[in-house]
Amino acid sequence: MALRTRLTQRFKIEHPIISAPMGFVAGGRLAAAVTSAGGLGLIGAGYGDAAWLRREFEAAGNARVGCGFITWSLARQPELLDLALAHAPAALMLSFGDPGPFAAKIKRAGVPLVCQVQTLAHARQAAAAGADVIVAEGGEAGGHGGTRATLTLTPEVADHLAVAAPDCMLLAAGGIADGRGLAAALLLGADGVLIGSRLLASVEALAPAGFVAAMIAADGDATIQTKVIDRVRGYDWPPGFSGRALKTRFVADWHGREDALRDPATKSAQAERYWQAFLAGDAEETGVFAGEAVGLIHDAPSASRIIAKIVTQAEDLLSGASNFIA
Ligand SMILES: Cc1cc2nc3c(=O)[nH]c(=O)nc-3n(C[C@H](O)[C@H](O)[C@H](O)COP(=O)(O)O)c2cc1C
Repeated sequence: MALRTRLTQRFKIEHPIISAPMGFVAGGRLAAAVTSAGGLGLIGAGYGDAAWLRREFEAAGNARVGCGFITWSLARQPELLDLALAHAPAALMLSFGDPGPFAAKIKRAGVPLVCQVQTLAHARQAAAAGADVIVAEGGEAGGHGGTRATLTLTPEVADHLAVAAPDCMLLAAGGIADGRGLAAALLLGADGVLIGSRLLASVEALAPAGFVAAMIAADGDATIQTKVIDRVRGYDWPPGFSGRALKTRFVADWHGREDALRDPATKSAQAERYWQAFLAGDAEETGVFAGEAVGLIHDAPSASRIIAKIVTQAEDLLSGASNFIA
């Protein structure tokens, strides 16, 4: 049984899986590996760095990949959108902010617009902007997000789109790391899934080995939504978002006392601690963005093994090999 959906049809891909544009860790190699495994890979442009983005499109070679930006940050350097569009991406994803100012340019370029949303209000805004795909991101997700849960946000957005924008496709994101998550998302009304954390622990992601080891060692209780990492890095996120990360020693030291990081001397000392450990891959002394799905992640194989396993398990579940007692 193959999992054919509107997503596989319209993007001409084999499996209804898109990889998350995880800022600076989802590079060209991971995106290309996901595409070659039958999904669609996205490069994570994050806050935006032209040299990094050029290099990662190059690393993807001839593979058909897309790219994702943090919308509020793109608004500060909009020329990066032209750089991405010049590489004829298979999709352009915008998350965290109003996609409206960029939508027309992306659509004029004939590139499918993917908008990640965290609330129903965001979904309404994205549909009105002409999104071709909306990603309903639950707060279980690794990295930045809101507080709604994937289990309720996905069907609620599906119901909204069925009336307001029936051609717009829907992906579920947040907590999806195995075939159970993929099967559940399809049953909730999604056309596919966007997967981050599970693919972060892979051969091809640009994650330090120490971060991946910490993810594998962690269970799903070991993450927290926190503003500590943004505060120490000096990223001024709009209200309503915080970042889910492992509860490392660094995060535990400052979570709940973020205001103390406003003191310039404290902030500078902690920024040094953060960046030194970050560059050394010392997970405990820095911030490691990852979602609740870490509790389902026990290894770091290739992206193609990860995707094949997720798809096979979902196909089995959806074709009746479930856990129901007859
Ligand atoms: C390390 C990391 C970095 C992320 N960076 C971004 C980003 O730069 N832009 C973005 O749209 N989403 C980012 N995300 C969120 C993903 O797009 C996605 O919503 C999330 O990974 C899905 O949940 P999961 O991690 O449980 O699969 C990031 C996620 C992780 C784990």
